[in-house]
Amino acid sequence: MQDLKGKVAFITGGGSGVALGQAKVFAEEAGMKVVIADVQQPHLDEAMEYFSDKKAEVHALNLDITDRDAYARAADEAEEVFGPVQLLCNTAGVSQFGPIEQATFDDWDWQIDVNLKGMINGVMTFMPRMIEYGKGGHILNTASMSAFVALPTTAIYCTTKFAVRGLSESLRVELDKYDINVSILCPGAVNTNIHRSVESRPDKYGKTGYYGRDEEVFTRLKSVIEGGFDPVDLGRIALEAVKRNDFWVLPYPEFVPTIEEQNAELISALKSYEDDPDYKRRVKLAEETGQAMPGTKK
Ligand SMILES: NC(=O)c1ccc[n+]([C@@H]2O[C@H](COP(=O)([O-])OP(=O)(O)OC[C@H]3O[C@@H](n4cnc5c(N)ncnc54)[C@H](O)[C@@H]3O)[C@@H](O)[C@H]2O)c1
Repeated sequence: MQDLKGKVAFITGGGSGVALGQAKVFAEEAGMKVVIADVQQPHLDEAMEYFSDKKAEVHALNLDITDRDAYARAADEAEEVFGPVQLLCNTAGVSQFGPIEQATFDDWDWQIDVNLKGMINGVMTFMPRMIEYGKGGHILNTASMSAFVALPTTAIYCTTKFAVRGLSESLRVELDKYDINVSILCPGAVNTNIHRSVESRPDKYGKTGYYGRDEEVFTRLKSVIEGGFDPVDLGRIALEAVKRNDFWVLPYPEFVPTIEEQNAELISALKSYEDDPDYKRRVKLAEETGQAMPGTKK
């Protein structure tokens, strides 16, 4: 989407961090009308305080993205205030790391409900509205480099982010016909409040095998992320990616060696079956019938 001025963006998690950086850039620099939706009212209040003396059209609404009915009401409200949404930023997310053998079902459920099902709720709420509006659109999904790299203690988070990548790649190949473009933003570290996300963990996911609301742990986690990207700088990268319609938004080149190694391992695993006579038969059949292998250009 080249010309964003005056168009409407809906940004989940917009009260803090990566999403707030996106909100600032899309509203102040691209001239969009921006809805910020967040489950934490203090985050929304602080964000609106920031926007109060800025020349920006921003509307805040309290939304738990895991609540489907509330999501539909939020979409109605966004349309009433600003008009049809053409840019959906599925950015809200939570993380809580720890050894997989200590994880409880509640630890799994919370992160899957927010990071994956919350994003699905966003897509299922806005995709039909974008299609019906008929003027195209863009869905920007925030995943993580954890969509590629599994590190110890990140199993649950990593599972959700790999799934977000699957969702994003699928949307990309299916929504093109409606002129709805898709991007996946995969940050490494960003200087945000993510280390405190456990504070908003609802009571219904009460049983955890991981750390709780421990100041020492928060301080340690914060020291890891505070060397990361500034959210506004990352927002500017996201803005350019939306304008250019880039699918992959991977502004962390320090991961090149890891991804190269991973891809080489995958290709080597695939090639190790090239002697299989059935493989040769399938390739011959594909050539004879003019069919391409999945993912290759016809
Ligand atoms: N900070 C990092 O280092 C980092 C790295 C890679 C990916 N990410 C991703 O960036 C995204 C944003 O995280 P962040 O770092 O800005 O963290 P953050 O905690 O600063 O912001 C996340 C916001 O999402 C909101 N949120 C949480 N659960 C919600 C729910 N159920 N409904 C609505 N809003 C909800 C929170 O209230 C918060 O305001 C996440 O998807 C995260 O996985 C962050």
